[in-house]
Amino acid sequence: MEHFVYHNPTRVVFGKGTIAQVRDLISPSEKVLITYGGGSIRNNGVYDQVMAALSGRDVLEFGGIQPNPLYETLMQAVEIVKRQKVTFLLAVGGGSVLDGTKFIAAAAHYQGEDPWDICAKEAPVTSALPLGSVLTLPATGSESNTAAVISRQSTNEKLAFLSEHVYPKFAILDPEVTYSLPDKQIRNGIVDAFMHVLEQYATYPVGAALQDRQAEAILMTLIEEGPKTLRNKTDYQARANIVWCATQALNGLIACGVPQDWSTHAIGHELTAFYGIDHAESLAIVMPALFRHELGKKQKKLAQLARRVFGVNEADDARAAELAIAKITEFFHSLGMPTRLVEHKIDPGEAAAKISARFRSRGAVMGEHGSIDASAAEKILLAC
Ligand code: NZQ
Ligand code: ZN
Repeated sequence: MEHFVYHNPTRVVFGKGTIAQVRDLISPSEKVLITYGGGSIRNNGVYDQVMAALSGRDVLEFGGIQPNPLYETLMQAVEIVKRQKVTFLLAVGGGSVLDGTKFIAAAAHYQGEDPWDICAKEAPVTSALPLGSVLTLPATGSESNTAAVISRQSTNEKLAFLSEHVYPKFAILDPEVTYSLPDKQIRNGIVDAFMHVLEQYATYPVGAALQDRQAEAILMTLIEEGPKTLRNKTDYQARANIVWCATQALNGLIACGVPQDWSTHAIGHELTAFYGIDHAESLAIVMPALFRHELGKKQKKLAQLARRVFGVNEADDARAAELAIAKITEFFHSLGMPTRLVEHKIDPGEAAAKISARFRSRGAVMGEHGSIDASAAEKILLAC
């Protein structure tokens, strides 16, 4: 097992009716900016619950944060934060609202010239406004992690940053407020969480027995509960399990002491930047081709996954690894998730050329061995 430091300071408050607890989680002395997306929280009653919890408090609001949140929009919120002397941010929504709010928090304290450098040049984040989260879409794990992914319209970029300063102080997880999600977003959430586990699991063995079992537990739970929650959207137990899986998939726990990949995400983010497809859709397209390209290096863990998660009875590692990829793809299809570029009317040749050129200009190296470069990404995309 590799060395690691584990520290996750986000207080998770889980269960029905928990939004009311926001009142106790934010000090009455704070000036709060509530951030949200395109309006789903106004239709499903979440906005009213948050406002009721904060009645009588000093509260402002900023709506209109897009899916794949735009730097251009977020900078308008940074202006409001500075002008109105906001002291606390409350993100209410899915991963995009949470990520966008993390960027607002970091940008509001940023001393350099252009806060975009936090994403584009890995400019260090040395402090940030405190933030809390009310999650409405189980998928990204953003509610209790250090990550945010921000898009910039003017340059067609989609880039991540990581900082301990943007850990949410708290995450309210009320599964009932996710009942209003359309099937497409539920499916996206299941696939995104599944892929987060794979990015931290499908690498090479380092003897991390517990972390392997924890990762497999999340995958098996997603396979069991995912179809149930899609079939019956108000099955509380099924939805509660999906919400907790998504948080656990990317809160740092299963990452302890193991190698991590994240190349499916890096290539997927480019597909979203160029073609606008949803984050999880991009991952479902890239993963099969990428895992086949890396089969030799990932063989042992994929074979373990095939046997332990999918119950495959195959003694040969290479064949078992192939079967793992087939089984994961089959699971995604069973949820209704497409796995090929052509299904989104995207030409693989064009995508491969555009995206590999971008990786080449950045000198990108990806994957747990640093072995996926621009040329490898080109081959992978041609096979998508
Ligand atoms: O904008 P509103 O009106 O709120 O509608 C949203 C949006 O249209 C809607 N929605 C959210 N909760 C709802 C709801 N509709 C009905 N009922 C509800 N309860 O769902 C749509 C998608 O929301 P979005 O936040 O974009 O989805 P998701 O949570 O999947 O977030 C995706 C973003 O997170 C990034 C992705 O790249 C993408 O930009 N990621 C963030 C990560 C992180 N911070 O750790 C890791 C991930 O790998 C990912 O990259
Ligand atoms: Zn993801």
